[in-house]
Amino acid sequence: MSQSVHGTWANRWLFILAATGSAVGLGNIWKFPYITGENGGGAFVLMYLLCIALVGIPVMIAEVMLGRMGRQSPINTMVGLVKRFHAPVFWAGIGWMGALAGFLILSFYSVIAGWALAYIPKLAMGDFQQATGEYAAATFGNLLASPQTLTLWHSLFMLATIFVVARGVNRGLEAAIKWLMPLLFVLLFVLLAYAVQTDSFSAGVDFLFSFDFSKLSRESLVIALGHSFFTLSLGLGAIMAYGAYMPQSASISKTIVVVAVLDTLVALASGMVIFPIVFSNGLEPGAGPGLLFQTLPIAFGNMAAGSFFGVLFFVLVVFAALTSSISLAEPIVAWLVESKGWSRLRAGACVGLSAWLLGLGTVLSFNHWADYTLFGKTFFDCLDFLTTNIMLPLGGLLIAVFVAWVLSKQTVADELRMGPPALYNAWRFILMFISPLAVLAVLLNGLPFLSTLIGQIKSLL
Ligand code: TRP
Repeated sequence: MSQSVHGTWANRWLFILAATGSAVGLGNIWKFPYITGENGGGAFVLMYLLCIALVGIPVMIAEVMLGRMGRQSPINTMVGLVKRFHAPVFWAGIGWMGALAGFLILSFYSVIAGWALAYIPKLAMGDFQQATGEYAAATFGNLLASPQTLTLWHSLFMLATIFVVARGVNRGLEAAIKWLMPLLFVLLFVLLAYAVQTDSFSAGVDFLFSFDFSKLSRESLVIALGHSFFTLSLGLGAIMAYGAYMPQSASISKTIVVVAVLDTLVALASGMVIFPIVFSNGLEPGAGPGLLFQTLPIAFGNMAAGSFFGVLFFVLVVFAALTSSISLAEPIVAWLVESKGWSRLRAGACVGLSAWLLGLGTVLSFNHWADYTLFGKTFFDCLDFLTTNIMLPLGGLLIAVFVAWVLSKQTVADELRMGPPALYNAWRFILMFISPLAVLAVLLNGLPFLSTLIGQIKSLL
């Protein structure tokens, strides 16, 4: 099959923009800075960069390739490939688990994107003029304390996601991504220029890039690997679904390297914007999920035309989140359309509504349910850990093993046409040994958490 029923990206650049749109999102702008802060900075960043290079990029190439070979939703792509290559049906589980993980992530992703939405009117009304660190922290605390407000913005974001998904691959999505992604890059530069002239810029950069190995823990390695999957949108079929819409003539490996580099640059730039502001305002780098929402408003409150840039920035964060959330929904929606014959609207609405309901659990975990914890993790933390640190790496591991061990060397070589055989062999070697071992090590670490979680769920039933 050389075309997908859902559509095909107009050219290689549109695939790059769409995949970058999926990759660049809350993971880069919100999550990367705060987990870097929580894990002590430089050493963590180094682990993250190694994970991207050694595991992320090789697995991403494999995942996109599977999508392009199958040309269907990830579930049907995997079912089709299993038949075509006479592999055990077990491998089709990659598609199913991915669809589930996408659904779970979508539920909390929408709540966090809602925070960014909530900040747009705040900045527009000049709430943060001359704001101090304390004021910014209190404002954020008030937002989290109100389930009604959180639910309102969560609902709006989910509606927007359904709207775009329902419109399909080519209409809306492609058109929007073309403008929004470059604009996001420009704005990050504006903020970077602001951060450079704060007197704590070098402290911020030091924090990010001074590689102090004594600070490395096993836990932070797990988080770095999990995040490299999250930020590249790997392991759940999102990028596989996008690969299915990729023109046959494009080179997968070159394209993927561009996407991964852009994604990493955005994450590092966000860190270089946020940490100088943290240090110059006496905030805590380890403040947790609220970091972005407590730092940037201070910068906007204290710079010329700050309300304008502030509104623009949070609008773009929302759009960056939107171009990611649609890719979380795409695998299940595409499957419902293919297999059940539903319209995209019906499929999108059904997925969106269910994810919205589950999202209420995340809303409550910042207030009424804040004290219900498992291993010190709230409902939101549990969902985040289960998906990011267990399901995505497991999906990635299975994808790597399937491509490197189940498919024949020649089949894969023909699909990838990577050029120099040495390059192809190196990639295949990494995929055969290094990526699976790294992921396995990390997964074993998540096992105690998983068994307690299963025990808890059983006791509830
Ligand atoms: N990569 C996105 C981010 O960094 C989130 C995301 C979108 C994602 N699609 C995904 C994560 C698929 C994992 C799998 O915000």
